Amino acid sequence: MKCINFAVVFLIFFTTGEGRIEMDIYKTKLSHVGKLKKYKASLNDPWKNDSVVLYKYLNGEYYGLIGVGSPSKPFKVIFDTTWADSWLPSSHCDWTEIVCKLHNQYDSSASSSYVPNGTFVKMNNSELSLAGILSTDVFRLAHVKVQNQTFLEATHISFRPFWQYRADGIIGLAYQEQSGWSGVMPFFYNLVRQKVVTENVFTFYMNRDETTNKAGRVIFGGTQRQNIKVDTMTNLTVIEKKFWMIMMDSVFAEKNKTQTVLCEKCKAIFDSSSNTIVGPPDVIQKLNWQMNANFIPVLNMYTVSCRQYAKLPTVHFVLDGNEFIIQSKYYVQHLILENVEVCLSPFVPSTNPRQDYWELGGAFMMEFYTEFDMDANVVRIAQTIF
Ligand SMILES: *[C@@H]1O[C@H](CO)[C@@H](O)[C@H](O)[C@H]1NC(C)=O
Ligand SMILES: *[C@@H]1O[C@H](CO)[C@@H](O)[C@H](O)[C@H]1NC(C)=O
Ligand SMILES: *[C@@H]1O[C@H](CO)[C@@H](O)[C@H](O)[C@H]1NC(C)=O
Ligand SMILES: *[C@@H]1O[C@H](CO)[C@@H](O)[C@H](O)[C@H]1NC(C)=O
Ligand SMILES: *[C@@H]1O[C@H](CO)[C@@H](O)[C@H](O)[C@H]1NC(C)=O
Ligand SMILES: *[C@@H]1O[C@H](CO)[C@@H](O)[C@H](O)[C@H]1NC(C)=O
Repeated sequence: MKCINFAVVFLIFFTTGEGRIEMDIYKTKLSHVGKLKKYKASLNDPWKNDSVVLYKYLNGEYYGLIGVGSPSKPFKVIFDTTWADSWLPSSHCDWTEIVCKLHNQYDSSASSSYVPNGTFVKMNNSELSLAGILSTDVFRLAHVKVQNQTFLEATHISFRPFWQYRADGIIGLAYQEQSGWSGVMPFFYNLVRQKVVTENVFTFYMNRDETTNKAGRVIFGGTQRQNIKVDTMTNLTVIEKKFWMIMMDSVFAEKNKTQTVLCEKCKAIFDSSSNTIVGPPDVIQKLNWQMNANFIPVLNMYTVSCRQYAKLPTVHFVLDGNEFIIQSKYYVQHLILENVEVCLSPFVPSTNPRQDYWELGGAFMMEFYTEFDMDANVVRIAQTIF
């Protein structure tokens, strides 16, 4: 396999310091979707093996490993800044629940620290649906324990989009106000309330290096300002305490000294769960046309020429007066699927035509260091030194 998909990564634990938890993010080589058996086999020892064959393709995903219950069972989870709630597949799911059956399942009867709750919850929108009961148990990050974490033990998990997820479940890192379940304390709030971490801030520190399998880390309860350009540090006030929503001055594309303005005074949220950059359909279409990209309706994504991909426009995000620029040689996702070379544009049209905000996923977050400060209600971003 000569191609490495830089966007498909997973996290493993690294160290825990005083009052904060760090995890390294590792990349693995891309494989194609047919490798389901291998994927299951590799689950046997996920704590030690960082070269797990990937099941996911065409769309990046970032994972961490947590342990749930007593004794602790490992789960792969997406740490998702766009979602406040947390869920895991349940061992009680029916055999017709294919997605549930293909992932690690939480079995409350095997955990001595399980606290029943039993409230039935259902969540659905145009893209997904989940249902099950609330349960409470111990979550473990490295050797740190978070008590009484309530989560959805999902007995229904919609096929789309989750069939292609390599992660078992999701840990939400958005504000509690975004939660669909009143009274349930989100994961990061619990870490802080239980004084597992001392600072009410978490940090995504990623890189774009394709030559190493180390892609960065997530730090809960702290920052790590070593390899950033400190003078580029930009503080962005959260304008809606629900998502991590901020205001951008403008976004424009530039090629051969010609600039195309894509938006001015537009809202954006950060999305640590995917590698795409989502925007309003008309604007995204304009940008992709400029890249001579072809729309693939079934994927709701655009492909670009693999010969030309390094020469596409730079995209500039102007944030509080500072320009954060991404270049096509890094933002285009270059994959080999069944011996076919595919180059994907990370710019994806929102499936909701009324959505008025952008979602800055991995194609953005891999380039820039991001701190999410829940006390100051600020996202601080800075250029990473690669
Ligand atoms: C990791 O797992 C894969 C697949 O199960 C296996 O081929 C590989 O040798 C393992 N690597 C290590 C370092 O154990
Ligand atoms: C279930 O959890 C919710 C949220 O924490 C709580 O309000 C409710 O009282 C719990 N129900 C039971 C039966 O424990
Ligand atoms: C959620 O599911 C219900 C019942 O299947 C359906 O009527 C409703 O339209 C769905 N909501 C959304 C936002 O898709
Ligand atoms: C967890 O819940 C149990 C029972 O409700 C309670 O006794 C305990 O103090 C809680 N622990 C923490 C750390 O909140
Ligand atoms: C941004 O926030 C940091 C830390 O809170 C602070 O030290 C710095 O002065 C702020 N920068 C600006 C430009 O406001
Ligand atoms: C830039 O545009 C000019 C005029 O359209 C063209 O002559 C030139 O070759 C272009 N340069 C590059 C590097 O594409």
